[in-house]
Amino acid sequence: MSEIANNPYPQTNDLVAATENRPNSRVLEFYRFSKSPIWQLQRNFFEDQGEKAWQESIVPHYVTSNPVMAATYVEMLMAFWQDEISNGNIDLNKPVFVLELGAGSAVFSYGMLYQLNLRLAKSALKGLKLVYIISDIVQANLNFARNHEKLQHFINNGQVDIALVNAEEAQQLHLQISNKTIGQQQLTNPLAVIANYVFDGLTQDLVSVNYGELLEGYMALPEEEMQQQNFVKQPLYDWRELPEDHDYPQLLLEYYLKHLDDNPVLIPTGAINTLKWLTAFSSLPTLVLSADRGVCSLSQLRRQTRPGFANHGSFSLPVNYHALSVLINNQGDIAMNCQRRQNSLALSVMVLNSTQCNNSFSNTRAAFERHIEHFNPDDAYGIKRALEQTAHLLVPQEMLSFLRLSHWDYRILDLFYQPLIEQIQYLQPDECIQWTDALERIWAQYFPIGDRVGPCLHLGVLATELGIWSLGIECLSAALQLHQHLNIDEYTIEQIDFHMALCEFELGNIKK
Ligand SMILES: C[S@@+](CC[C@H](N)C(=O)[O-])C[C@H]1O[C@@H](n2cnc3c(N)ncnc32)[C@H](O)[C@@H]1O
Repeated sequence: MSEIANNPYPQTNDLVAATENRPNSRVLEFYRFSKSPIWQLQRNFFEDQGEKAWQESIVPHYVTSNPVMAATYVEMLMAFWQDEISNGNIDLNKPVFVLELGAGSAVFSYGMLYQLNLRLAKSALKGLKLVYIISDIVQANLNFARNHEKLQHFINNGQVDIALVNAEEAQQLHLQISNKTIGQQQLTNPLAVIANYVFDGLTQDLVSVNYGELLEGYMALPEEEMQQQNFVKQPLYDWRELPEDHDYPQLLLEYYLKHLDDNPVLIPTGAINTLKWLTAFSSLPTLVLSADRGVCSLSQLRRQTRPGFANHGSFSLPVNYHALSVLINNQGDIAMNCQRRQNSLALSVMVLNSTQCNNSFSNTRAAFERHIEHFNPDDAYGIKRALEQTAHLLVPQEMLSFLRLSHWDYRILDLFYQPLIEQIQYLQPDECIQWTDALERIWAQYFPIGDRVGPCLHLGVLATELGIWSLGIECLSAALQLHQHLNIDEYTIEQIDFHMALCEFELGNIKK
């Protein structure tokens, strides 16, 4: 095991030094990576926080839940359904289910429902009986979604159901709103599954390829880290011989032994389990759309030195999408990963059980090329970051172009708010019409979760400035409601009151 001394991970012997530097710390036991208590702590974190994880901006969600991401997935779904209609696998009289795993705040669920309905209404698939299942392992998150004002329309028309689902375990789907249960092999139409920022928090294992030898990663955490949020800061590692009766996918181990020299490799055990039960759940083709921090290619894996824990209340680890694609391709199914260098997001599209039909899934493959390989939500996020530096240089017409590109994203409007307010009095009448349309679209797609006042305030003020009085009142009332949860300053309250009064006056609801 002499080569292991070069391994960049802290070793068992480093424990002594680590604890000496932190006299109050006691190092807990070493566990096989997937058996470490960190996974239970992770689950406790989400259970304890519920919707507060997003309301208090502890857990990031923008990158995976924005309108460009929804537009991308809508295109993938439409293409998949088109392929499955050609395959004769869709009965248009029966429901077509989309299952979102780990939906969290339901921001993305709403975005999907909003955009799917717009897209379906103008397509040959109009009339498709969509049922979108918002699922999570935390009941409080599901309750938040169920009671959210903006989802009531979809709940009442039967397009939304909710289900408590542990993504790692095979199970029946109990739909809490319709009180129906879907068991294995009971679906009549193909299922589509969404997993954004989910696989990165599921159980993982760790192995290390060391010039032809394979070792198993063990991990320990100092005790004081286990008792706080952001708990995985300085994990310690130990490397042990792989037992003969190990349960890692043999195919993967052989693959990495052959293709890697000296690298640690995360094995996405939880995600593999998810794909296994989904494969068994229905014998029809199943589309899986996933976005996360992750690695998609061997070259990215070769650059990895240590598991990159990210701490955000909970923790996350990059998802080894490359490993998932090796396993899926080996069973003859389809796995397409975006291979190029990412700003912050890896994207993967899989079709499980694809071999049972002759169709090559040409629409799904073409949609992947167009909406993921070519320009994807990760590129859109790069553009947003560039706009953070340059928004003040744009004129209103250019701002509108970026808003269209963003599929009417309130966070992009937030960036334009100040420069737009300064230029609003110079807008031509036809520009005012376009801005009215833009504000209405942005507001329609916005799903407030009580984390920030900006979007309601900015939309309300801009609507007032443009004379869209009823939209102004709607947005500003929503901003006022947030006052109960958020610490809104006096100046902001005055701004809200002033613009509300103006709208009410113009509508004839109050006298001078
Ligand atoms: C980082 S959040 C992602 C939320 C949302 N999908 C997004 O992109 O913002 C992870 C979500 O997965 C849920 N979760 C954690 N472990 C899970 C499991 N084993 N099965 C299903 N959901 C899980 C958490 O409760 C949380 O809502």
